[in-house]
Amino acid sequence: MKQTLKRLKTEKLKFQRVSVPAFQLLTTRLADAEETLRAIRTGEVDTVMVAGKEDSQVFTLEGADHAYRVLIESMNEGALTLTADKVILYANQSFARMVKCPLEQVMGSSFRRFLSAEDRATLQPLLKRAGKSGSKIQVFLHVGDGSKMPAQISIRPLAMNGFNRATIGLVVTDMTEARRTEEQLRALTHRVVQVQEAERGRVALELHDNITQLLCAILVRSQTLADKLSARDGSAKREAIKLRKMLGQTAEEVERISRNLRPSVLDQLGLVAALRATSTEFAERTGVSVKLACAQLTVRLPADTELALYRILQEALGNVEKHARARHVTVRLRLRTCVQLAINDDGIGFDPEHRAARRKGKGGLGLLSMRERATYAGGAFTVKSIRGAGTEIEVRIPLPPRATASSAERG
Ligand SMILES: Nc1ncnc2c1ncn2[C@@H]1O[C@H](COP(=O)(O)OP(=O)(O)O)[C@@H](O)[C@H]1O
Ligand SMILES: [Mg+2]
Repeated sequence: MKQTLKRLKTEKLKFQRVSVPAFQLLTTRLADAEETLRAIRTGEVDTVMVAGKEDSQVFTLEGADHAYRVLIESMNEGALTLTADKVILYANQSFARMVKCPLEQVMGSSFRRFLSAEDRATLQPLLKRAGKSGSKIQVFLHVGDGSKMPAQISIRPLAMNGFNRATIGLVVTDMTEARRTEEQLRALTHRVVQVQEAERGRVALELHDNITQLLCAILVRSQTLADKLSARDGSAKREAIKLRKMLGQTAEEVERISRNLRPSVLDQLGLVAALRATSTEFAERTGVSVKLACAQLTVRLPADTELALYRILQEALGNVEKHARARHVTVRLRLRTCVQLAINDDGIGFDPEHRAARRKGKGGLGLLSMRERATYAGGAFTVKSIRGAGTEIEVRIPLPPRATASSAERG
């Protein structure tokens, strides 16, 4: 903070007969004193030195804003005030440290020098709007040593006053650590999804190779048993037939679970057919009506994208079954410059923000893994849900240029 020392002379002046030079001296001193008072009032001066006859006395001014100055200078975040044309009027030491630039070179320079052309363009409208309300933006600050630092800038409008040309206040937070943690978390979530996929494959194989084979053998035996029992055995034969039927259903159920666990269904059927099979099976099993509208694909999409879409539909339908109490579900696959899958239900809905905050990671992995799959395939994932008004899951994944398709949709 700028510190200006002002001298106030406190000599006693004799007022009896004032000569013209003495009067001029008095006028100059009066102007000087008025200027000093003005500077004290407007906060331009931190310390006043009053010259006495023998020695000088130093007075430190601790105005109402002194505590704020101490706070701003001691905080880890960068704090700046800018004029309307983005000149830095004031910056704290933390900001100078962040951008690795001496404070005296920061103050008075343009804030734009610390931003890329792209970030400048994004910041520009926010700074204009900052006159009305505050906003936040993520940028990369250009640091003195040539590196770039991820940062969050909070923009706050400042009340204009007569002496200060500052119109915008900025608080700059170093996001390097937060970004690193975010990346680690993303890598971990991806690993969880990978492990989950591998585990599903293993379980599917076990079910198919062992349980289904075994069930089929038992089924054949129970059929033989039922055949061997003659009509005279009455109730025993009926039981044997019932048993064979139940075993048949069990084998089918195990095969269904195993099929759902295996992504190889995509290779056998293709994406649209796999989505259709999943939806039909869900509707038949749960009694919830599913309306499917799918664009016809003329080429296969990248394997990551197909798997992500297929798994997202499975997870979303699983949630409808477990949580939604819905009667109708709509599944829509569209192709524009990206592939877009939307799953809507008319169930009880939920508050996505509230749940995430309340469960603090103790909840299921469904929504998390859906988001991860979409993100990993280079896409975006959104959940819109309102209590009592159903849920919409939407994923958009960009397509490579040759993955074109007709826009025809089939119900
Ligand atoms: N379609 C839906 N309708 C109502 N609530 C839902 C729906 N999808 C998700 N939820 C809510 O979000 C929570 C988190 O879902 P998810 O991450 O899949 O975990 P899980 O299904 O294992 O609980 C669910 O417990 C449920 O409360
Ligand atoms: Mg779930």
